[in-house]
Amino acid sequence: MPYGVHAPMDSVQPARPDAPRDPGPRQTRLQKLPRRHDTVLARSDARNPQVCCVGFVSDTDIKTPRGRVSPLSGRLGSRPVIDEPINIADFERVAAEKLEAGVLGYFAGGACDEVTLRDNVEGWQRWRLRPRMLVDVSAVETSAQVLGAEVSMPILVAPVAYQRLADSEGEVGMARAAAAAGTVMCLSTLATARPSEVAAEAPAGRRWFQLYCFNDKAVTRALMDEAIESGFEAIVVTVDAPPGGRRERDLRTGFKIPEGLGVPSVQAALGVDREVTIEETFSLMDPALSWSDIEDLASDCSVPVLVKGVLTAEDAVLAVEHAAAGIVVSNHGGRQLDCVLASADALPEVVDAVEGRAAVLVDGGVRHGTDVAIALALGADAVLVGRPALWGLAAAGEEGARRVLELLRDELELALALCGCTSPAELSRAHVQRAPGASVYSV
Ligand code: GLV
Repeated sequence: MPYGVHAPMDSVQPARPDAPRDPGPRQTRLQKLPRRHDTVLARSDARNPQVCCVGFVSDTDIKTPRGRVSPLSGRLGSRPVIDEPINIADFERVAAEKLEAGVLGYFAGGACDEVTLRDNVEGWQRWRLRPRMLVDVSAVETSAQVLGAEVSMPILVAPVAYQRLADSEGEVGMARAAAAAGTVMCLSTLATARPSEVAAEAPAGRRWFQLYCFNDKAVTRALMDEAIESGFEAIVVTVDAPPGGRRERDLRTGFKIPEGLGVPSVQAALGVDREVTIEETFSLMDPALSWSDIEDLASDCSVPVLVKGVLTAEDAVLAVEHAAAGIVVSNHGGRQLDCVLASADALPEVVDAVEGRAAVLVDGGVRHGTDVAIALALGADAVLVGRPALWGLAAAGEEGARRVLELLRDELELALALCGCTSPAELSRAHVQRAPGASVYSV
């Protein structure tokens, strides 16, 4: 079973009756998915029989010679199942079924009417790739350099708060998944595990730390120090919050971070022996943060400092002038100010303004390898994915997050080959143009 990561072993039959079942450790993990997905399948299919559904297979399902369920089975009138999520949307559906409504709304939601949340995904679709033919793509590699260090792919894990809401392994599981995929995980200040814990539990991984700046500079310093001492290789300062955005889904569901799920690194940095809530944490952040603070921070930091939340050429220039080693083009996953530019639309002007003086990364709406290829062609050094990795984590813990990252890597590799590129570095502006009818912004 090459994938099958979500199939409970009691419902998946081996290809041949005499074939032994894979006894590996993966089985335990995969059983985390409940069987009630069979019901989800039935519902999804009733709405739209053409929709490719995620689900579990049973003895009666149609098998291909390799033991996987034929994608034709639904069209042939049998139960419409395949045995694994085949794209990020599938992982999202599995996660949505597992997560409690308030938690799902917290992770999936954006600010206000969620204009930017939707636009982030659509933004990549306003670009078209310009592939080149008859290039030797018999050997394609996805590895890339980011901030002078090699990653297995230019796809990093974005900071996402409170990951233990999604899975009991939380940030530790995510860090292990990123390590297994050979990429960087960026840990949130609002993580449910401290940097030191993540470093101890996922020692093989490469890690960056996302930093919120507090009114009390000593608190900010303590957070940075713990991360750097724990081997985190970069500090990513988020500059598009506070205050936190207006999350209408949370207002509707009445969602609150449950008691018992604090932010231990903030608690330690504050030096208090009690749980610190998200509300208290946000109230302690510095709303007067300025570019000179970024410069002070960068000049007093032994690792590169990136600025996350830049959407304009003007701020990109300021970031470079104030010693940022990198910029993350980001609108916080559409969770802060609604109606700002989609990341895919803001990226070109930032790349142009930076003129190679700092690394440029981008997050928001990346759901396919082709989105990654477009971002790289527009000049990004790498992308970060938040929700996609989180859906994987929610679906099947560390294994699910790892599968999401591997899926994106496979999709990127295919996109590179079909573009006539043998590595991410070969993608250039010549490989991308505005989609016809979407030429409001020019490259
Ligand atoms: C935290 O950064 C959030 O967006 O909830």
